[in-house]
Amino acid sequence: MTEYQGAYRAHTNIALIKYWGKADADLFIPTTSSLSLTLNALYTDTRVTFSSDYEADSFALNGEEKSAEEVAKISKFLDLFRTEADVDFKARVESINHVPTAAGLASSSSAFSALAAASRQALQLNHISDQELSTYARRGSGSATRSIFGGFVEWQKGTKSENSMAVKIDDATWDIGMVIMTINTKEKRVSSRKGMAHTLKTSPFYPEWVRQNKIDLARIKDAIEAQDFILLGEIAEANAMRMHATTMAADPSFTYFEPATIKAIQAVQDLRASGIPAYYTIDAGPNVKVLCRASQMNQVEAFLANQFEDMQFIKTTPGPGIQQLDRWE
Ligand code: DP6
Repeated sequence: MTEYQGAYRAHTNIALIKYWGKADADLFIPTTSSLSLTLNALYTDTRVTFSSDYEADSFALNGEEKSAEEVAKISKFLDLFRTEADVDFKARVESINHVPTAAGLASSSSAFSALAAASRQALQLNHISDQELSTYARRGSGSATRSIFGGFVEWQKGTKSENSMAVKIDDATWDIGMVIMTINTKEKRVSSRKGMAHTLKTSPFYPEWVRQNKIDLARIKDAIEAQDFILLGEIAEANAMRMHATTMAADPSFTYFEPATIKAIQAVQDLRASGIPAYYTIDAGPNVKVLCRASQMNQVEAFLANQFEDMQFIKTTPGPGIQQLDRWE
C-alpha cells in the first residue's frame, strides 16, 4: 500500500469589497477583483489521505459522512491536484469546521483553501507557491482564493486562470476587529453561487456594480495604506450595500436581508452616532458583521447585546494565512 497525507488549517475571510459574479463560471474567474479580511476565530482543519487502497473518494465533515453530491464536488477539485502530480489514487478527506456556533457561518472559503494546502502537501507539489495555490483554491470556491493569506487580501481578477489569484495587502495589525451578529434564519437562502449568477444575468444594476467596484477597491486600498479606519469602514459598508442593491433589482428580485438584518443595520448606525466607529458588511445570508476597532469590541458587543437579547456574538481579530498541522486530532 502506498499512502500520501497532508493536513492544513485555513481561516475564513469576509470580503470588504465583494466578489459578486463570474466572468467564467467553469474556471471561477470573477467579473471584478475583491478584497477581504481573514478572521482568527473561524477556521477549518482538513486532512487528506491519498491511498492506493481506496476504491472511491470520501469526505467527512465534523465526523459525518457527506452525500455523493458533496463528494463529487471534492473529487473534481482533487482531480486538479491528481493531474498535476500524475497520481490517480482515491482520497479520504476529513474536515473539522471550528465555528463557535451552528449559526450558518461555516464557509467554503476556509474549506477549499485548507483542502488545497493539504493536497499540495500530501502530493508533494512543492513547486506550487502560496500565490499559485490560491488559483487552485479558487476552483473550489471563489472566496477560497483569499483564505490562503492572512490579514487584508486582494483577489486580483486577472485575465486567465493562472493569474486570477490572491495577493497579500497588509497584516491588519492596526487595531482592527470584527463582531459577528449571528442572525439565525429558518428560511433556506439562495446560495451565493446561484444568487450571483441570477443577478449577473438579470439585474440592470449589474454593469454599474462592476464599474463602481473598481473605484471602491482602489479607494479601500488607499485607506488601508494610510491606516485610515473610518474611510476603510465607510467604503466597505457602501460596497456591501451596493452588492445587495443588485439583488433587489434582479428579475425576479430577491434579498438576503431578514427583518433582523435591517434592525442590526440600524443598531450599528446608532452605535456610530454614539461615537464608536463601527461599520457593517453582509454576505449572501442574513448575518451582520461589524467592522470596528479591536480595542472596542467589548463595547460594541455590549451596545448591540442590549438591543438583541438572545443573539450570539463572535468577536474576532484578523487571522493568519494557511498553516500546516503537525498533529491531527
Ligand atoms: C457574498 O465564494 O461562496 O460572500 O465562487 O460560487 O463558490 P462561489 O461563491 P462564494 O461567493 C462569495 C460571495 C460573497 C462575497 C465575497 O466573499 O467576496
